[in-house]
Amino acid sequence: MALRMESLLPNPTDYSAYRTRFLILIFIPFCAPPILFLALLQIFGYHLYLSSWLAYPLSILIWNTARLKYTEYVEWHEARRMGAEPIPRLVGRWPGNLDIVYTIATQLGARYPHVVLLELLESSGHRTANARMLWGNQIFTLDENVEKYVLATGFDKFKKAVVVKEAFSSFLGEGIFNVDGDLWKTHRATARPFFIRERISDFEIFERHAQTALGLIKASGSTPVDIQELLSRFTLDAGGSFLFGTELNTLSHPLPIPGHSSLGPKGSTSPGSFGSFATSFEAAQQLCTRRSRLGVIWPLLEFFHDKSQKDVKVIKEFLDPLVEGALDVKRGREENGLPLEREEGSFLEYMVAGTDDKRLIEMQLLNILLAARDTTSALLTFTIYNLSRYPHVLSTLRSEILSLCPAGRSPTYDDIKKMKYLRAVLNETLRLYPPVTGNGRAAPTSTSIPLPQSSSSPSPTSLYVPAGAIVFYSSFWIHRRKDLWGPDADIYDPTRWLDERLERVVKNPFIFIPFHAGPRICLGQQFALNQASYFLISLLQQFSSLTLAPAFQPPGSLPPESWKGEVGGASQEKVWPASAITMFVKVRSFFVWGVMRVADFGFMKGGLWMSFGNEESA
Ligand code: HEM
Ligand SMILES: *[C@@H]1O[C@H](CO)[C@@H](O)[C@H](O)[C@H]1NC(C)=O
Ligand SMILES: *[C@@H]1O[C@H](CO)[C@@H](O)[C@H](O)[C@H]1NC(C)=O
Repeated sequence: MALRMESLLPNPTDYSAYRTRFLILIFIPFCAPPILFLALLQIFGYHLYLSSWLAYPLSILIWNTARLKYTEYVEWHEARRMGAEPIPRLVGRWPGNLDIVYTIATQLGARYPHVVLLELLESSGHRTANARMLWGNQIFTLDENVEKYVLATGFDKFKKAVVVKEAFSSFLGEGIFNVDGDLWKTHRATARPFFIRERISDFEIFERHAQTALGLIKASGSTPVDIQELLSRFTLDAGGSFLFGTELNTLSHPLPIPGHSSLGPKGSTSPGSFGSFATSFEAAQQLCTRRSRLGVIWPLLEFFHDKSQKDVKVIKEFLDPLVEGALDVKRGREENGLPLEREEGSFLEYMVAGTDDKRLIEMQLLNILLAARDTTSALLTFTIYNLSRYPHVLSTLRSEILSLCPAGRSPTYDDIKKMKYLRAVLNETLRLYPPVTGNGRAAPTSTSIPLPQSSSSPSPTSLYVPAGAIVFYSSFWIHRRKDLWGPDADIYDPTRWLDERLERVVKNPFIFIPFHAGPRICLGQQFALNQASYFLISLLQQFSSLTLAPAFQPPGSLPPESWKGEVGGASQEKVWPASAITMFVKVRSFFVWGVMRVADFGFMKGGLWMSFGNEESA
């Protein structure tokens, strides 16, 4: 067996150990060889001459080359033993494929989502390839069969990547989102029943916050509003009510001022802060995302100071009394012999009924808020964006909504279930703009991925995945593959979900993975769809026209000139999707191991400025 660095490293859920991990990571390839060399000199009685200083870098080179060759030999041998084929490698011009690292680091954020990966794979002629960035096994795939194995059929053979878990652990701890194995299983089993039940109160929560948000749109009259900002506050406030049973009230803070917005890393263009918890929650999310994008080297920037501490403290000070209060209520009820109310109420109350572990409850609340918030707001933002661009879709949707749930009546669960076109619109947005555009999983031990017979391989084969490799699948491009979705794959067309074209997904559900698939499929899928439906119904009950306001978009949030020639719909964009939404927290994490422009670090969001009107009442 090849020597695996990971086995020497501290437990990844122990975030305070990030320094140790980093030191070990640096020590083995860069310091151990010269020390060994020096020791050998001593043992054999040689003196250190000036010329032997040269031997230091040489010893590093020799050691690492030998190690690399040995690992490659072991992997080759293992692949043969498993009867699996090695995954084709991308061959760059520079050692360690530094040119590929550079291309990805500089272009990923600057171009249409994942188009760099698409090009790298297309130029290699393979659907799955190993980018071998800095000699590490980094596999990219657009193959739905590979993704299916990683997420579902071969679920047990893969884990979330250690680099990412570590980057997020000071914030998310060992909550459901950030752990694997038995701990994850327990989390999932305890949280699941809460999501399975259809909770009536969800709709009360949606109603309250949706009406607040719509009130703000109405109050702005014909002046455009940043709908992206509004939606990200709506989902945060709704998340607060649903999970904590408390009001975060971010919608009550001033909205960005039209014409005075700029690209910003946080909540796009909000003028001030939301108050302690919400602001720290965003800041911590921001920081951890930046860390995970930097990859293994992030501890270097925080070696002497864990930059998340301040915000983690604020978050804790907000959650502690909430959780303690709920635990007190529970104890009170127990003492008085009253039953626990597990059926109604927030996720906090639900968790409290099952455990007294304060830290566990807090972690779970934070993890789920993170999972719930930006994803749902991205789905809504992009649906509204596309409704404004496709008037026929808007009018079809609006007449479905008004016929099943006329203005003035709050939508019910049954109304939503009956709205087939609405669901098709949401599906089509999730297809063309999956809020989680891609994701990766690491193989802790080597494994092989079975592939069915196909046009490129006449007989079934399997792909060898070396231990430690990360397999990254791009949902974004799997959802736009013309061989899977037809020649019109790039076109926004909700009717594809309502006719015989639906067969494609029914036959192979793994070609449509906005919520992923397999045992870790999104727990909040139904909640998210209900929330998005509720908001859209309420919006379209009150407004009949949605108009983009490009004059109000801050510079940098409009699509660049160079997109005119891009593939896959980029040339038709009216805003820059990557900068207009908060892409999911993990999106770019796996690519960046080295060079990167400082400007690429945070999320740069520009908002989505639109005006809303109602011709009927005008
Ligand atoms: C349109 C909105 C949403 C999208 C596109 C979405 C997508 C996803 C995806 C792709 C994952 C898998 C992540 C991974 O395994 O690496 C996930 C996991 C998860 N999501 Fe969602 N999500 C959405 C909304 C929500 C909401 C509203 C909630 C909760 C109220 C939620 C709760 C969760 C949880 C708890 C997990 C972790 C499940 C696990 O690891 O077992 N999500 N989501
Ligand atoms: C939406 O997509 C899901 C697949 O996740 C599918 O089962 C469902 O039939 C689709 N519904 C509509 C109306 O588009
Ligand atoms: C909107 O439509 C365009 C062009 O058809 C597409 O590229 C884009 O991804 C769509 N966005 C969403 C959210 O569906």
